[in-house]
Amino acid sequence: RYEITQREAVAEILPGVRTPLWTYEGTFPGPAIESRRGRPVTVTHRNELPVPTVVHLHGGRTPAASDGYPTDLVLPGHWHGDAVGDVTSGAMGHDTGHGGGMHDPRAAVTRLTRDYTFPLDQRATLLWYHDHRMDFTAPAIWRGLAGLHLVRDDAEDALGLPAGPRELPLMIADRAFDADGGLAYPALDPTLRQRPGVREPYLAGVLGDVILVNGAPWPVHEVDAARYRLRLLNASNARHYELEAVADGGRRLDLVQIGSDQGLLAAPVTHRLLPMAPAERYDVVIDFSGVPIGGRVRIVNRLGSGRTRDVMAFRVARRAPDGSRVPGTLCADLPAWRRSDAVRVRDFSFRAGRTHAGHGWVIGGLPFDPARADVTARLGDVEVWRLIADVHHPVHLHLVGFQVLSRGGRPPLPHDAGLKDTIALRPGEAAEIITRFDGYRGRYLFHCHNAEHEDMGMMANLEII
Ligand code: C2O
Ligand code: CU
Ligand code: CU
Repeated sequence: RYEITQREAVAEILPGVRTPLWTYEGTFPGPAIESRRGRPVTVTHRNELPVPTVVHLHGGRTPAASDGYPTDLVLPGHWHGDAVGDVTSGAMGHDTGHGGGMHDPRAAVTRLTRDYTFPLDQRATLLWYHDHRMDFTAPAIWRGLAGLHLVRDDAEDALGLPAGPRELPLMIADRAFDADGGLAYPALDPTLRQRPGVREPYLAGVLGDVILVNGAPWPVHEVDAARYRLRLLNASNARHYELEAVADGGRRLDLVQIGSDQGLLAAPVTHRLLPMAPAERYDVVIDFSGVPIGGRVRIVNRLGSGRTRDVMAFRVARRAPDGSRVPGTLCADLPAWRRSDAVRVRDFSFRAGRTHAGHGWVIGGLPFDPARADVTARLGDVEVWRLIADVHHPVHLHLVGFQVLSRGGRPPLPHDAGLKDTIALRPGEAAEIITRFDGYRGRYLFHCHNAEHEDMGMMANLEII
């Protein structure tokens, strides 16, 4: 049982600069929660922010009532129905009766907290929780509403992977700051929106020029000359990364992938370059034992330029014994669905298109509508989904993990291994995924996890019956 208060706070992110944030419990990232597989956790969220919020546990196998549907709001304690900031359009305009009584003034003063119950009957992995309010997810995450949630289990504990101080959850997110130290969210800046000739300047999503890891800009972390387990999450709204680990002199260290969004792989996969789209997680072991004491290993984003090329660095401080290992077989319980198991094949396009706001992003030609059933799937059915994209779209399914069957008519890429909940579609690419709709009945979502694309309409309902 946890209690989390969502409130405004001021943090020193850049040295000597005060940055106002929206937070879970006053910190960015929010408090990291650690759970055991199969042990249910209830988190009571109290909203003391000036706007309604929604909490979603990304990657969680969660009953629909606690999954954070975008209109299942936690109303703010200080909110009395008057317009505060960006609350006036969006969620209000789309109320379909699922919003916990948005138009009932009594609801606004009583529904200030909400219990989210997570059974966590799922494989050990790194999940994250973040805001999911309809039309305003991107600015809410940007302002700080994101945190980590680790699920552990006995099978994983028994493997002997690097642990304790040698296991590092790393939430990577870019942000931009304005002259006063506030987080600048340019898509909400009316002077930019109305600049003549600029129809929609942030169609590709909002990028920052400062890279934060666990809320700190370009941190340098001291390590032993030993193996470390990096639990990587790309919590950026729109930024893609291609990570490499570069030692002094330019030597590249192996990034040994042991897990993906939904837990351990069957066997490790070695990368020199690891692509990471928004919301993806990678579980990676890196071995610093060959680095001279005092040496540095920089984590570099090959897709960045200038300051955004650097992500963070490790300084190898001392020799130390290392009893960890990376077994050749990591897990034997990965589902192995075959095409022949599928009772249905569905096609979805992820493209630019017309929305209520004029121009935005749509799935199958239609912008998100909470009242429309886009997909109705039967509990227990295996389905193949064919996804096709115009530009980069990291596509995420709630509730279920899936396997990548193909990309561009070819076998999946090495980093597609294991069980995913987010697949990074590349420009012009078609990919096939396979999953079993397992767990709970109810109304879920699938959407692009470029957070701006999501807010601009690239989301759809997944009803499991
Ligand atoms: Cu991480 Cu529907 O989201
Ligand atoms: Cu999710
Ligand atoms: Cu997208």
